[in-house]
Amino acid sequence: MPTNIPDTMNALLLLHDGYSQTQEGPAIDTLEPYLEYREIEVPKPGDGQVLIKVTLGNINPSDLHFIKGEYGQPRRAGVPAGFEGVGVVVDAGKGGEALIGKRVAFYVVANGSGAWANYALSDVTSCIPLRQDLRDEDGATIFVNPLTAIAMFDEVKKSKAGSFIMTAAASQLCKLIAGLAKEEGIKPISIVRRDEQIDYLKSLGSAYVLNSTSPDFAKQAAKIIRDEKPRIMLDAVADQTSEILFQAMPNRARWMVYGKLATEAPQLNQIGQLIFMDKTIEGFWLVKWIRNTPAKQQIEAIAKIQALFAGGQWKTDISAIVPLSSAFDDLPSALSGINAGKVMIRP
Ligand SMILES: NC(=O)c1ccc[n+]([C@@H]2O[C@H](COP(=O)([O-])OP(=O)(O)OC[C@H]3O[C@@H](n4cnc5c(N)ncnc54)[C@H](OP(=O)(O)O)[C@@H]3O)[C@@H](O)[C@H]2O)c1
Repeated sequence: MPTNIPDTMNALLLLHDGYSQTQEGPAIDTLEPYLEYREIEVPKPGDGQVLIKVTLGNINPSDLHFIKGEYGQPRRAGVPAGFEGVGVVVDAGKGGEALIGKRVAFYVVANGSGAWANYALSDVTSCIPLRQDLRDEDGATIFVNPLTAIAMFDEVKKSKAGSFIMTAAASQLCKLIAGLAKEEGIKPISIVRRDEQIDYLKSLGSAYVLNSTSPDFAKQAAKIIRDEKPRIMLDAVADQTSEILFQAMPNRARWMVYGKLATEAPQLNQIGQLIFMDKTIEGFWLVKWIRNTPAKQQIEAIAKIQALFAGGQWKTDISAIVPLSSAFDDLPSALSGINAGKVMIRP
């Protein structure tokens, strides 16, 4: 190990192994049941791995599902949390030497060590050297949301419809998708649950923005869907509102569930539509997309993502950057309230 790397570091560590049986969703009041903040040894990179001195660790809803044991992969007690971040590679195992000294965006896979720490361990293949003109705040978010935005929007393009529906439309992810839709001239039909978000989404190019809590929501949505005939609904909420929208969609409509922000599952009231109208309900998970997508296509997507951020067409909104040393106490309040951007941890 290079001499300037300390033996120990501070980290927010997972308290539990495996999965929980809860379905609480990503809301967090306290970290106490899930994490502890303490000093541990700095991990050592094995073959195909790199050690990264973390500059910023990102916090996505998937991290919050994960620490609660509600995500698609098991927890490992005693290992730092945090799936993605940005930092500088300071040490490497066999195969990662060329990355030493480089600023990278990284994603932490199952055998790694998470981003909510002074140092993280990532696979060489889950690190992207960053362009110099990219902000750390954008670099810290490169994997999860931008790749998902590109991958799901490709499906929208393939649908050949002039519009699509997106729920939880004020999310950071949907703001990226809105940018792609504007570029292609495809109209987003955006669903939110607060009036305050409507004007902003319209300014990003959303043709229609509907508040799902308004009394005439179902009627308004049905009319827009009849006029615009969207074939894809990108859905991060997966509640009864989504089911109402899906029912109103035309033949061959695809309900693509990629998040489960709602804590209660919807009831399917028109199951015959799957048979007679060729409609489908499916899931999207970036992890599977990465596994199944040719490397060349992924490299092209990453290059496009960096260009969009560097060119200013995309920007990561930040609502708070919390120091690692106070994150255990301060994160819950930083994550609460109206969503205005990403919360990140600075070691
Ligand atoms: N499947 C995948 O591979 C994949 C990859 C990336 C992201 N995702 C998912 O994408 C979603 C968005 O991620 P993000 O990082 O962009 O999130 P984000 O910026 O934190 O935004 C979350 C948004 O969801 C809204 N929301 C939360 N709970 C809701 C509920 N019960 N009903 C309606 N709206 C709700 C919030 O609205 P308010 O402002 O009203 O609170 C906010 O606008 C998450 O579900 C995440 O897990 C999935």
